[in-house]
Amino acid sequence: MRAPFTLCSATVLAVALLLAELPAATADFRRDSAVSLPVVDADAAGRWVPGTPEQKETPKFWGGKFIDRMKQKFGHAACRAHRTSATIKYFIDRLANGGMPTGTPAEVRRDYLRLVPNEEEAAKVLLPHPHVNTSLPKRELAEILATKTLIHRYLFYSAISYCDNRTIAAEQSTVVLQQDDYPVPTPVNGFKILYWHEQDWLRYYIAASPYQKTIVLVFRGSMNNDNFKKSIDTKPIIPNAGLYASGWDTAQLPKEARLLRGYAGMAEKQMEKAGADLLRAHRDFPDYAVVIAGHSMGGAVAHLAATHIRTYYGTRLPISTVYTYNEPIPGNAVFNDWSAEVLHDVPFFRVTSKDVVTSLFQADLPGMKEKHRYRHAADITEVHCPDAQKNEMIICDGGLDPKCVAGYSCNDLTWEFHSDFAGQRGSRRVCLLSQA
Ligand SMILES: *[C@@H]1O[C@H](CO)[C@@H](O)[C@H](O)[C@H]1NC(C)=O
Ligand SMILES: *[C@@H]1O[C@H](CO)[C@@H](O)[C@H](O)[C@H]1NC(C)=O
Repeated sequence: MRAPFTLCSATVLAVALLLAELPAATADFRRDSAVSLPVVDADAAGRWVPGTPEQKETPKFWGGKFIDRMKQKFGHAACRAHRTSATIKYFIDRLANGGMPTGTPAEVRRDYLRLVPNEEEAAKVLLPHPHVNTSLPKRELAEILATKTLIHRYLFYSAISYCDNRTIAAEQSTVVLQQDDYPVPTPVNGFKILYWHEQDWLRYYIAASPYQKTIVLVFRGSMNNDNFKKSIDTKPIIPNAGLYASGWDTAQLPKEARLLRGYAGMAEKQMEKAGADLLRAHRDFPDYAVVIAGHSMGGAVAHLAATHIRTYYGTRLPISTVYTYNEPIPGNAVFNDWSAEVLHDVPFFRVTSKDVVTSLFQADLPGMKEKHRYRHAADITEVHCPDAQKNEMIICDGGLDPKCVAGYSCNDLTWEFHSDFAGQRGSRRVCLLSQA
């Protein structure tokens, strides 16, 4: 199923990435002096700083404005160069090492047990997904739904999607680890895989957990050359209104909305069938919560699929919560903000680490046309894991909070933590637990 990486594909990737960056880069810098400054702005180091037009000091001369713009432009260009070189380095390392390090079953077991340090935490692993009143303020929703237990739980479900095949994934359901004198189940203990779909190098599965009273739809992230090549197909396309806005009568898809062609294509190949399968699962288990999740490209697909399912099925298929892990930017700011509006009654948590992928296609500078602005949705709550090793997370204020990824200098973001969140690695290494 997995095609090996070749030097040729790394070169294709690097060149494609450079090309993908160019059109936006040339659009960044406009000399038009009538532009209004956005609320979130970048400083010369490419760091995103909060500010309002009122608080900004207006430069007295055109020369001052010019220098400010140049600083922004070069800050931004430096970020692009960093993202590109970090990506090329990552793929060259992958080539040299033949893939991501996985570790031994004993190491995976030890890492998992570290997340569940006592009996009290072990007892939470299989608790039902909370039912919430979605009219609660976002902060209160996050306190209930973005707990460490639940963030780790759906990362685990997402990671299972990378197992070699359905048999290996299903084997994880019987794993119970022993810590001192009490048992520690994994989050997928007792789960049953209802659907497992693979086509065109893409995969999703739907599982039901009788303990958690939850149906989980997971989209797998990039795993092979084909996935990676498509991920960097950043040609902007007009979203298919029939998929994303059908039956949604209170907010039409805005004219300026754009999706990146690669993610849109990979999502659209899966989401209609995934939605139909999910509806069937929901009918079989009507009192179970419905959760949609995915890591990396799988997160972008989960985001688009949730938007599709919400508009297409409405209340026939209520989604309890969406969790994405280091989701790349799937479309322009207009689309992303619109999808947040469509999903306003679906709690959605975009979990991040100090990862460069979540801002790989970011382009958001003063003077840009709305259509050309690429950033995450302002209204989807980011949950940030500042340290890959420590079980700590910050509930951010919306999706552009400078306390979270938006606040780092872009040079601090790498591929290194792409699968690591608060002490848990959400990669195919979890599939080793059934051998531990
Ligand atoms: C949900 O919360 C809102 C406001 O917080 C309240 O008006 C509404 O009655 C609640 N709904 C339910 C079903 O409890
Ligand atoms: C699933 O993967 C395992 C490990 O790679 C392999 O041994 C097994 O034959 C595979 N099973 C099926 C049904 O493909």
